[in-house]
Amino acid sequence: MENLTEKPIGQIVAEDYRTAQIFKNHKIDFCCQGNRSIQEAADKKKLDAQVLINEIKAVQQGKQEGTIDFKSWPLDLLADYIEKKHHRYVEEKIPVLKPYLEKLCKVHGERHPELFEITEHFNKSAGELAAHMKKEEIILFPAIRKMVQAKQTGSKLEKPHFGTVQNPIQMMMVEHETEGERFRLIDELSNNYTPPQDACNTYRVTFALLQEFENDLHRHIHLENNILFPNSAQLEMELSSEN
Ligand SMILES: [Fe+2]
Ligand SMILES: [Fe+2]
Repeated sequence: MENLTEKPIGQIVAEDYRTAQIFKNHKIDFCCQGNRSIQEAADKKKLDAQVLINEIKAVQQGKQEGTIDFKSWPLDLLADYIEKKHHRYVEEKIPVLKPYLEKLCKVHGERHPELFEITEHFNKSAGELAAHMKKEEIILFPAIRKMVQAKQTGSKLEKPHFGTVQNPIQMMMVEHETEGERFRLIDELSNNYTPPQDACNTYRVTFALLQEFENDLHRHIHLENNILFPNSAQLEMELSSEN
């Protein structure tokens, strides 16, 4: 079996998404900081790298058919998938979560003041994510689709107005980092989405939804940072050397 110690964690997750849960359990960020090796990630968390490797191998050995291999997908299909699955998810859940959080603050804010902070972070995230996804949908993803088309038809690729896809990609990655950090704080403030003893049903539902939102965001950012973006930059290089 391959030596995993020096392998970047983003790549491990890209090859088998089920390993994401292992990194989540150890609170290791595999999306925004996916370029770190297992060794580096383990050192940072003061963990034995071998523990992580054993858990990853156990998942890999149990690899079932049906794990979606996003790495083999054409990039235009992956961009469509991200838009239709993850962007729409964010758009649908924000208007559900906002009133829940507002209600929680009103009813439980006095006893659980951290709810105000969680709500503030979430609202900030909601606004910035909406703008972020629009930039991807209007600027970056259409440029990726154009590159795929140029490759398929052998036509010359016109230089985009932003120069190279590396520019919007850099900007998107910085924004991912900000969102990742915000959700790390929400995770911490909510005690890893654990409702308190006196929590009502709304409290439980809201925390479960927030956790689902964070998980979806991780998967979304992972697909962009570790697969769509590097492969698009690579395609751009290939096309420019052909022209
Ligand atoms: Fe996105
Ligand atoms: Fe993004």
